[in-house]
Amino acid sequence: MHQKGDLYYPNEDFKKIALINNREIYQEAEKDPVKFWEKLAESLSWQKKWEKTFEHNPPYVKWFVGGKINITENIFEKNPQGWEKIKDKNAIIWQPELVDEEQKIFTYKDLFEKVNKFANALKKLGVKKGDRVGIYLPMIPEVIISMLACARIGAVHTVVFSAFSPHALQVRLQDTEAKILITTDGYYRRGGVVGLKQNADEAVDNTSVEKVIVVKRAGNPVNWDEGRDLWFEEISSQESGECPAEEMDSEDLFFILYTSGSTGKPKGIMHTCGGYIVQAKFTGQWIFDLKDDDILWCTSDVGWITGHTYTIYSPLLNTVPTLIFEGAPDWPNPDRWAQIIEDNKVTTFYTAPTAIRMFEKYGLEVIEKYKFESLQLLGSVGEPIDDSAWLWYFKNVGKERCPLVDTWWQTETGGILITSLPGVGPFKPAFSGLPFPGMNFEIFDEEGNICPQGKQGNLVLLPPFNPSLLRGVYKNPEKYLETYWKDYGEKVYFTSDAAYRDENGLIRIIGRVDDVIKMAGHRLSTGELEAAVNLHPDITECAAIGIPDEIRGEVPIVFVIYKGKKGEDEVKKEVVDYIKKEIGPIALPKEVYLVDDLPKTRSGKIMRRILRKLFTGEDLGDLSTLANSEIVSKLKNKVAGNNEK
Ligand code: WT7
Repeated sequence: MHQKGDLYYPNEDFKKIALINNREIYQEAEKDPVKFWEKLAESLSWQKKWEKTFEHNPPYVKWFVGGKINITENIFEKNPQGWEKIKDKNAIIWQPELVDEEQKIFTYKDLFEKVNKFANALKKLGVKKGDRVGIYLPMIPEVIISMLACARIGAVHTVVFSAFSPHALQVRLQDTEAKILITTDGYYRRGGVVGLKQNADEAVDNTSVEKVIVVKRAGNPVNWDEGRDLWFEEISSQESGECPAEEMDSEDLFFILYTSGSTGKPKGIMHTCGGYIVQAKFTGQWIFDLKDDDILWCTSDVGWITGHTYTIYSPLLNTVPTLIFEGAPDWPNPDRWAQIIEDNKVTTFYTAPTAIRMFEKYGLEVIEKYKFESLQLLGSVGEPIDDSAWLWYFKNVGKERCPLVDTWWQTETGGILITSLPGVGPFKPAFSGLPFPGMNFEIFDEEGNICPQGKQGNLVLLPPFNPSLLRGVYKNPEKYLETYWKDYGEKVYFTSDAAYRDENGLIRIIGRVDDVIKMAGHRLSTGELEAAVNLHPDITECAAIGIPDEIRGEVPIVFVIYKGKKGEDEVKKEVVDYIKKEIGPIALPKEVYLVDDLPKTRSGKIMRRILRKLFTGEDLGDLSTLANSEIVSKLKNKVAGNNEK
């Protein structure tokens, strides 16, 4: 890359071979975004061509209306590149956590057979098109086989991150009414075995789950319910390796993925087949410049949307091997991630700022011996990347050679929507860059006027949006309307992020303006945390906020009003236990404060904004609107006292 002012551009040698290397595509897409997507869609294998490319019935959208398409045909036997040509390429490179355990590699042919076998097994269990299947698996090949098997037969998968608690899993199983849950005995994490089956056993109570399919991974002892539990390997191995692909309408439900919003209850984001497939394929291809000899390592767990789209579907649609790693990137040594890149000759590395900041903190000596010669492109996702992390990553991992794409998107958008293309640029530290071709973004003030360049406002997406935008919130149309289409009317998608544009049109994301905390790139809602803490019988009120954190971006802090008789330390532990039980260990707060009162308006609304300012050192502003302004100085002392400790 080379620098002009504060902007970076790809070098000529990168540009020369990049799939997209000039701005023409932007002009073409801007002229007619619907046609732009239509042209891309034409290169996929459709079971039946669509009749209408885009249909807008605010606040609902449809793409490729009347078309029929199955993603597995596009990955496997009807891959536009030709099955014979691709079947022996590597599809999955699985890196187990234990250093002395061997990698497993699956070619497209191996994977296809495994998918078909398991798809037939699911069918035998009565799973039909449209049925929901819960998947609670860590990063092992069977998670991909399970998702693709669902896609093969038109079942709707709902993947639940393996670090979510039994209760969080249960809520999702109840909402989807899944009849099948796929899990594992256990998996390795930081050298130890994490038992997952016991969580699954607890979670399936009071749900409609009839069968629990268990992958044998760690070999740890598990409880077994003869009438309900089945071994994954046993039921697949007896099946045929051929299974016809279900005919899927463009707008048939493909999957549901839960994410946090402003309130306590997670939302089931719905993605459909046609639009998602088109978006996954081409955003990945262009943004990561995916070519025949690439190897992609996207470090996101499949439990998140990044894992769905860029660990699995996009690389497989582009016939690129995807590396999946079971463990933690710094175990058993802080350079484990670097070693994996070198050993596997990873060309494309996609991770989150929180990981980058952690690598940075370990110090340069840890990665001194790595040249990272195989790397051609770096990506970042999930939270704003600050200048210093951007530059560290660019210099020490990308060796100033690799373009660094900071990709902005959301569970709701299904695919990346903002980032400069690697063969075009420009790139600027801490900026996500230009909208993807055809994307119509604006920055609005509260009234819906366009903010001038440099002024921060709300990031919105205008018609025709993008093919893989969410189609709804499962069983909750009101929530869909209220969350995305209320602030500026039913024709404007509100992202809930604040952003501004610089003089080059590059977009910088500031962060969420709703009650969502992005901890280590994970999405948590203050409402969800509060709902968990409020279950404590002696806590009468609580407030959760996110505060800045050097490594994790943001971390939660919880304030509670406790009316019982126990000691402070015990209460704090109980609060943490409630969060662990309701959500999982990923949501643990950095600190819990026991307080007498919370700052409130006269109408009783808790002012979380003021609580946050106690940590950021910002001016507290006018407190006269509070009903109990005297509490603020008490809280301030408490927080300050704690920080001195
Ligand atoms: C929120 C969506 C879809 C990727 C994984 C997260 C934040 C995402 C960036 C970025 C700054 C980012 C936004 C967004 N975010 N990518 N490159 N720069 N912020 O998906 O869990 O649905 O969260 O993550 O705040 O709204 P998610």
